[in-house]
Amino acid sequence: MIMYAFRSELKSIMSYTVMQDICLLSARNNKKWNVTGYMVECGGVFLQALEGPEEAVTSIFRKVADDPRHHHVDVLLSTDGVARRQFGAWAMNLMFLDDPLLWRRVVGSLSPYDDFLRRSQDPIFALGLLSLAYQFACSATSVDPAATGLKRGRVPRKRHMLRT
Ligand SMILES: Cc1cc2nc3c(=O)[nH]c(=O)nc-3n(C[C@H](O)[C@H](O)[C@H](O)COP(=O)(O)O)c2cc1C
Repeated sequence: MIMYAFRSELKSIMSYTVMQDICLLSARNNKKWNVTGYMVECGGVFLQALEGPEEAVTSIFRKVADDPRHHHVDVLLSTDGVARRQFGAWAMNLMFLDDPLLWRRVVGSLSPYDDFLRRSQDPIFALGLLSLAYQFACSATSVDPAATGLKRGRVPRKRHMLRT
């Protein structure tokens, strides 16, 4: 398996509902290809992880990179030979980190915008943030972060896409 972590920026403001719909469609698509992952959004910047069979991940990534709704789609990290999924619970899920209270609960520091635009380009920061958010979302929604079998790679419910 391989894992990609990448960053992109929305071209224009998008409502939470539209972003949730993108996430649901993504999860339904990814599920067909045994791909799992997670994304966070903050101030119009997305960090996203995709993991699964190499061909599936690369072809999904190409489709995402061509999506005209965002730009500056940069791969931050690409790891092959992955034995264990880090984001296996959902085929895709999304956390909105714009809310300062949620940011503080997930990350521990004070403000979502503290250097976020710049730091989100750092692969270690990005993967760390994705992992923290994923673990937090699993625990807040009582989902097993190490899910296997039928419980792995599920399509999220709206309540799983944390916003506050
Ligand atoms: C930030 C962002 C992340 C996305 N992530 C995924 C994804 O993980 N999987 C996916 O299939 N589509 C994803 N999409 C949507 C794709 O770019 C594309 O619109 C969609 O896959 C088209 O699906 P279709 O070929 O079934 O019409 C994402 C779009 C955006 C803007």
